Amino acid sequence: MSQLLYEGKAKKVFATDDPNILRVEYKDDATAFNGAKKAVFPGKGKLNNAICSKLFDVLKAKGIPTHFVERLSETEQRVKAVEIIPIEVVVRNVVAGSLSKRLGIEEGTPMDRSSIIEFYYKNDELGDPLINDDHAKMIHIATDAEMADIRKQAQAINSVLTTLFDGVGITLVDFKLEFGKLKSNGDIVLADEISPDTCRLWDKETHEKLDMCVRRNIADLPETYEKLLSRLGDI
Ligand code: TMP
Repeated sequence: MSQLLYEGKAKKVFATDDPNILRVEYKDDATAFNGAKKAVFPGKGKLNNAICSKLFDVLKAKGIPTHFVERLSETEQRVKAVEIIPIEVVVRNVVAGSLSKRLGIEEGTPMDRSSIIEFYYKNDELGDPLINDDHAKMIHIATDAEMADIRKQAQAINSVLTTLFDGVGITLVDFKLEFGKLKSNGDIVLADEISPDTCRLWDKETHEKLDMCVRRNIADLPETYEKLLSRLGDI
């Protein structure tokens, strides 16, 4: 049995024989609102692994560096070991969620600019506060150059994913990314996951929400995520 290094809300991370490679196992557990809401959905781990692996494969093919190596099994991925930068990077293409509340702009309002990037300091005790580049530098979690690199990569990822979802009739409203420094050489790469747990995805025609069922108290999470996976089947 390989050593469990970390257990998060949705995933377990195990060591492998190679110190630069880890094994990630997707769990069926679902949480939202910083762990305040919890549920178990049989099959969620398998679905998120399949969706995330597909998205990481597309990003890789477009030359975006990620920690993803390969999908190992229904619920597992092989990934490169990184040191996670404690920043949640949120990319927004349409007003929704906390942005709608914070600025009093109706959900669904399109942006009159290409996209907005927000940074949140990953810190459960503080409730993941919104920060900017200056705060990141002040609390020594990233330098100016690293923040510029993260912003550029987030924009490139948004461009690839927006095109991909547009192609299957889905609007990529917003999503959350995490970046890490590769243990092997310190390069900053996309890490963690991109899945319907971490994105808002709305059907362009029906406006059906294909995402974040835990937050929205939707019981048919497996059916919704399955529907999303089958739409992505064509890419
Ligand atoms: P928000 O509107 O609640 O700030 O969320 C913006 C996007 O970021 C949405 O697609 C969900 C994602 N997100 C996470 O994946 N994890 C989080 O902890 C938060 C706050 C947002």
